[in-house]
Amino acid sequence: MTDPSPEIDSHSGVETTGQEWDGIKELNNPLPRWWLFIFWASILVAVAYWILMPAWPALPGFQGNTTGILGQSDRVRVAADMSVLKAGRTALSARLTATDAASVLSDHELSQQVMALGDSAFGDNCATCHGAGGGGASGYPRLADDIWLWGGALQDIERTIRYGIRAEHADTRTSEMPAFGRDAFLTATQIDDLVQFVISASGRKADAGAVVRARPVFEQNCASCHGFDAHGDRSKGAPNLTDGEWLYGGDPGAIRRTIVGPRNGVMPAWGGRLDPATVRALAIYVHSLGGGE
Ligand code: HEC
Ligand code: HEC
Repeated sequence: MTDPSPEIDSHSGVETTGQEWDGIKELNNPLPRWWLFIFWASILVAVAYWILMPAWPALPGFQGNTTGILGQSDRVRVAADMSVLKAGRTALSARLTATDAASVLSDHELSQQVMALGDSAFGDNCATCHGAGGGGASGYPRLADDIWLWGGALQDIERTIRYGIRAEHADTRTSEMPAFGRDAFLTATQIDDLVQFVISASGRKADAGAVVRARPVFEQNCASCHGFDAHGDRSKGAPNLTDGEWLYGGDPGAIRRTIVGPRNGVMPAWGGRLDPATVRALAIYVHSLGGGE
């Protein structure tokens, strides 16, 4: 249905399409030039992209996708990036395990890399128990202070991390506080007295009679680990009972629960799960949290 002589709108001088609604006629204006330019340019770019870059997924009966003549591939690029990263890591690992931890800290650039590695490894592996930034929780020691169960020198911390505490490793740190109540080594009255003794040892007001009665019991049953002065013993992981810092809580109920049946917390051994460089980075990181010795 072609109209041989298109109607020209008298007002604008533009052809009409021949459509008319209630006296309003549709003009057949050409598309703007800029619009047409973008339209054709997009088509050209798309065709060029199909030819140069990987574009079309597998057609039925074919494997993979069109690869494009530039040979671009995200997978190849990622593999290249990974090998660069790995080379960097290997170099870092080598430097980290070759030098002793103290001289790592004197090398500014190296120690920055080590802190970053330690920080991320801590977040991935340790923060679940020890809290973000080593803040600690009940039963999980605070690592960001200068109170140490097993020692706060770099090599002590590294040893704790590598072999764990009461963990499944031949070289793990051990020692278990006996369950004086549960296993009936002491009577309930003796335990009540000991609770008062521990409260008084930590500098708080306690029942003086109970403290006097408890002293010989403490010396006989507790001093071998916690010391006669109750200052603790790091070779046994026995906490200092005088510093007012508690692993399991310092109120009478919590102290009583520990004496009745201690938990003897387990810290996993990381030596088998993390490589030596990461363990060392973690030790340096933990040491830097605030309480390294
Ligand atoms: C499953 C929980 C858990 C995880 C995960 C864990 N720890 Fe521990 N960690 C413990 C417990 C429990 C203790 C205390 C053991 C005890 O009572 O002697 C501890 C003790 C320690 C100590 C000794 C503190 C002191 O005062 O001597 C260090 C250091 C330590 N952890 C570092 C780490 C690092 C680093 C990681 C991560 C690689 C980590 N821990 C992951 C539970 C955990
Ligand atoms: C064989 C060593 C050993 C003996 C003996 C021992 N303890 Fe302990 N004690 C420990 C260890 C180790 C811990 C830490 C347990 C843990 O990490 O779970 C501990 C923890 C404690 C705590 C908790 C401290 C805190 O910070 O929360 C108290 C309180 C305590 N002992 C009191 C006593 C009393 C009282 C006796 C004697 C009746 C005693 N202990 C005998 C090794 C011992």
